[in-house]
Amino acid sequence: MSAAVLCVTGTDTDVGKTMATACLAAAALARGDRVAVYKPAQTGVGPVGAGDVETVARLLGHPDRLTVAEGVRLGPAMAPVDAALEAGGEAAVEALPGLDWHLERIEALALDQDTVLVEGAGGLLVELTPGGATIADLALGAGAPLAVITRPDLGTLNHTGLTLEAAARRGVRPGTLIVGSWPVEPTAVHRANLGRLRATARDHGYAWGGALPEGLSSAPEQAVSRAATALAAALAGVLPVRLPPRPGR
Ligand SMILES: Nc1ncnc2c1ncn2[C@@H]1O[C@H](COP(=O)(O)OP(=O)(O)OP(=O)(O)O)[C@@H](O)[C@H]1O
Ligand SMILES: [Mg+2]
Repeated sequence: MSAAVLCVTGTDTDVGKTMATACLAAAALARGDRVAVYKPAQTGVGPVGAGDVETVARLLGHPDRLTVAEGVRLGPAMAPVDAALEAGGEAAVEALPGLDWHLERIEALALDQDTVLVEGAGGLLVELTPGGATIADLALGAGAPLAVITRPDLGTLNHTGLTLEAAARRGVRPGTLIVGSWPVEPTAVHRANLGRLRATARDHGYAWGGALPEGLSSAPEQAVSRAATALAAALAGVLPVRLPPRPGR
């Protein structure tokens, strides 16, 4: 695999994985990379709706050096295997691509890009394939580190600790821990959690990616770029691999 691949997961669904993926992509674009964003299994979106990868492209203003791709799309807003079952029964589940298929897609994207970001569905152990492969398996197969996106609210310390521990147990390389949405008016709970999350990241060998400000989704693309700049320090440790220039580049 020639590009730097980073797998993005969350401590839960709706924690800001897509927002964080947009910021990671913006940071990689800002350093001159060609970037691909791949979503192996997009659920909860109809055939013509905008999935997470289109959201990333829109947030970044559709830059030239950004390529986006989806593996499978399933209408029901459920975990991928259940969404397939709901949409088309056992036959639809069996028709879902397996781990090797997704790894080949990632590898194909990696051939033409400097950075490939892979956004899972929901959290670390959500099954993406009929064989039960998860984003952890994709990270292992691609040799990629993991970016874990988390919440700052009450309950996050347990969810974050469990996610980082489960990833470590599976042998997934630590990447970065990022808070997906930091409130404009943080409470004492948020502030205390932030310190604890930093310590949890350090204890598990994850770079601290910081906290993305709330309100990014409605902000102009410059705001995403600013948030991406704040992620740059973490990226230095997470996406260190730069390809040697190819002939003609
Ligand atoms: N920093 C932020 N600023 C503004 N809105 C945010 C931020 N982070 C998340 N959101 C909003 O919260 C919701 C969930 O975020 P997002 O879609 O990124 O989560 P996700 O973890 O990717 O969810 P899924 O599991 O469905 O892929 C979205 O409506 C998004 O616009
Ligand atoms: Mg998402």
